[in-house]
Amino acid sequence: MITIRPYRPGDRADVYDVCVRTGATGQDASGMYSSDDLLPDIYALPYVDTEPELAFVADDGERVVGYVIATADTRAFARWFSDTWWPSVAGKYGGTVSDAEAGILASAADPERMLVSEVDDYPAHLHIDLLPEAQGQGLGRRLIDTLRSALAERGVRGLHLTMGADNINAGAFYRRLGFTELASSTDTGTSFGMAIERS
Ligand SMILES: CC(C)(COP(=O)(O)OP(=O)(O)OC[C@H]1O[C@@H](n2cnc3c(N)ncnc32)[C@H](O)[C@@H]1OP(=O)(O)O)[C@@H](O)C(=O)NCCC(=O)NCCS
Repeated sequence: MITIRPYRPGDRADVYDVCVRTGATGQDASGMYSSDDLLPDIYALPYVDTEPELAFVADDGERVVGYVIATADTRAFARWFSDTWWPSVAGKYGGTVSDAEAGILASAADPERMLVSEVDDYPAHLHIDLLPEAQGQGLGRRLIDTLRSALAERGVRGLHLTMGADNINAGAFYRRLGFTELASSTDTGTSFGMAIERS
């Protein structure tokens, strides 16, 4: 049986693994970039290291098979990411890379990228990923519900996320849960934002 529980520091390697294996629009991104560290270094590890109290995992008894991770305050997180986190890992990357990797690196180096126009209405943002074998069993809904309760306890107004426009399944999932598209999403073609009030 798969259970939802708070993140523990010993889960870090599994979170890294889930991030890589779901990082290509929900498919396995292993070997896609100059280092498999790239996606976890941007989209997973900074969250569990700085706000572990807002990280929750799906545990099958053997290992973590999925997670939801978040920051309560996107403005503060963006500052910390650009001032402290990214400089501590950015030296691993560079040189000649694919256009896709160059785009990811440029986005990571841009502290403004996280500040959607609606950020003050929806100050928290999240990432959620489940390994294929853990999908379609209601775990995504349970992880989001757990996170929303934790945010409500902290008095956070609302929650948003930014996702690749080509991730049709994820878009359908978020809409089913009651997320609506951010008006600012029309600003960009490759990604869009979705948001929901706190529970
Ligand atoms: C997207 C993801 C988090 C959804 O989690 P999940 O556990 O598979 O989804 P759930 O089983 O909890 O589904 C919750 C609800 O959404 C609906 N839903 C989920 N995926 C759907 C889809 N592709 N189309 C339509 N509805 C969908 C379910 O039917 C369910 O509805 P119900 O609760 O009213 O019965 C998960 O599939 C995943 O990790 N995918 C790969 C990584 C990824 O794309 N992450 C998101 C990046 S932005």
